[in-house]
Amino acid sequence: MNILIIYSHPGRKSYTFRVLKQLVNALQKENHHVEISDLYDMNFQTDMTEQEYEREGFAKIDLPVSDDIAKEHEKIEQSDCIIFLYPVWWSDCPAKLKGWFDRVYSVGYAYGYDANGQKIQKMKKIKSGIVICTAGHSNEFLEETEIAESMRKVMLNDRLGERFDKKEMIILGGTLYIEEVEEFHTDCLRKLVKQIR
Ligand SMILES: Cc1cc2nc3c(=O)[nH]c(=O)nc-3n(C[C@H](O)[C@H](O)[C@H](O)COP(=O)(O)O)c2cc1C
Repeated sequence: MNILIIYSHPGRKSYTFRVLKQLVNALQKENHHVEISDLYDMNFQTDMTEQEYEREGFAKIDLPVSDDIAKEHEKIEQSDCIIFLYPVWWSDCPAKLKGWFDRVYSVGYAYGYDANGQKIQKMKKIKSGIVICTAGHSNEFLEETEIAESMRKVMLNDRLGERFDKKEMIILGGTLYIEEVEEFHTDCLRKLVKQIR
């Protein structure tokens, strides 16, 4: 499978970076082709410019999109599976990834309607969408407080939405006590990779 990883963490010494390396190794062992959009490394622009807002806010789909956005669209079109990997920051993804959705999910590509009210969505339907996030809090805490449910709703129901055939989200929680959870996380990742086909 062609797998695109949208990765969003600024630190090479981070636990999330370790997860990225583990994930890429496991995917390559299963003979998947892996491409990574490393948003911090690419210095991906997160803010929408006024010019871009003119296009997005008023659905002027005939206007061109920026080159960096067109490149992300190409990567999406080449992929069968997209994995979003990031740390939970303030109960959501980092602003860098939020900005990727703001700009890459452009009107007329990821959503939109024509003058006759017909849906226009050039983005191909991707076979599989997977969200993996690391979190300082434990999974139990995130479930009890319903933060996990709110993260699932936003990521799976809205951001992945109908654009993917199969969708799943795993929360690798408890990173504040990493030695207690790392083995469990490794096991989750191993199982996840085995079922990607
Ligand atoms: C700015 C910031 C905000 C954070 N907010 C949350 C949060 O809302 N919930 C949570 O469980 N962990 C939170 N964390 C902890 C990170 O999720 C945790 O550090 C990360 O998943 C794993 O560590 P890493 O940065 O080494 O990859 C936050 C960390 C930072 C730096």
